[in-house]
Amino acid sequence: MTLATAIQLDTAFKKDVYKGLTSRPKFLYSKYIYDKAGDKLFQDIMAMPEYYLTNCEFEILSAHVAQIATLFGKSSEGFDLIELGAGDGKKTKILLKYLSNKDTHFVYKPIDISVNAIDGLSLTLSKELPNIDVEGETGEYFEVLERLQNYHSRKKVIMLLGSNIGNLLHERAINFLTSLQEVMSREDLLFVGFDKKKNPQTILDAYNDPTGVTAAFNKNLLVRINKELGGNFDSSKFKHWETYNPETGTAKSYLVATEAQKVLIKDIDLEVHFEKWETIHTEISQKYDEQTVEWLANKSGLEIVTSFSDEKAYYTNYVFQKKNL
Ligand code: AVI
Repeated sequence: MTLATAIQLDTAFKKDVYKGLTSRPKFLYSKYIYDKAGDKLFQDIMAMPEYYLTNCEFEILSAHVAQIATLFGKSSEGFDLIELGAGDGKKTKILLKYLSNKDTHFVYKPIDISVNAIDGLSLTLSKELPNIDVEGETGEYFEVLERLQNYHSRKKVIMLLGSNIGNLLHERAINFLTSLQEVMSREDLLFVGFDKKKNPQTILDAYNDPTGVTAAFNKNLLVRINKELGGNFDSSKFKHWETYNPETGTAKSYLVATEAQKVLIKDIDLEVHFEKWETIHTEISQKYDEQTVEWLANKSGLEIVTSFSDEKAYYTNYVFQKKNL
């Protein structure tokens, strides 16, 4: 890389694309899938019959809303409900509706990497649940942690739904959960959705739908590089490929080059060569068993207060608190 190119790597997106596509094996971070088109594709994924995660969590929140609301609302001064990666808030609305009908004092603070998601959610909430105080923010999880340190005046409940934790490898998940634990006080709660290990075929089907929505979702990384960094990827020359290892519980997504090709990304002055069948790793979607969640909690200074599962035991929402040392 010349000095001139170094100067051009002036955004995190440029740096990460450069790093990912000059590494061996190649990779791109899944967080960059979520622009306006990526958000829409993810909405389509959540509506697919194969993508059971959303319905499972919806079922859990619907069936246990009273118990969850009681756990969250146990505080005379009310509480701050902070949701990381809020998306369209479809599942959270069950809880918000219940809390607002019970006249519980709380402020809902949805946080998402996507500006579109936060704007859309704030707008729909102002129409559907106008009594709720909503203070949306945009940012990445790790940035947001710094801001959370300021929320110490009363109880806070931090929510991470949709198995978003599963997009982090264990080491990063432990770092992240530890950072959350460090900004929590004793009465605070952390509510996290985990997708469980199950029939491997069910998992593969969820990430490999016949209509190609998940493929388009992954390929949005290439589309975005073309749009925002002057790239000339031809997405039709890449195949979406999903793997699931039932031993480790790790599902991995790849884009595989179906022919040898050269791609130019003008804004970062990079020419990328692909051999036929070369891969770009795009996402991990971790699946968990009970012991692994206990291990993660323990490593992160947290303890499990209780948990809620759907009828098929596909998915579990855990409530954590800071470990009593
Ligand atoms: C956002 N995240 C938890 C989803 C998942 O299941 O890993 C993203 C996704 N990727 C393919 N389908 C859905």
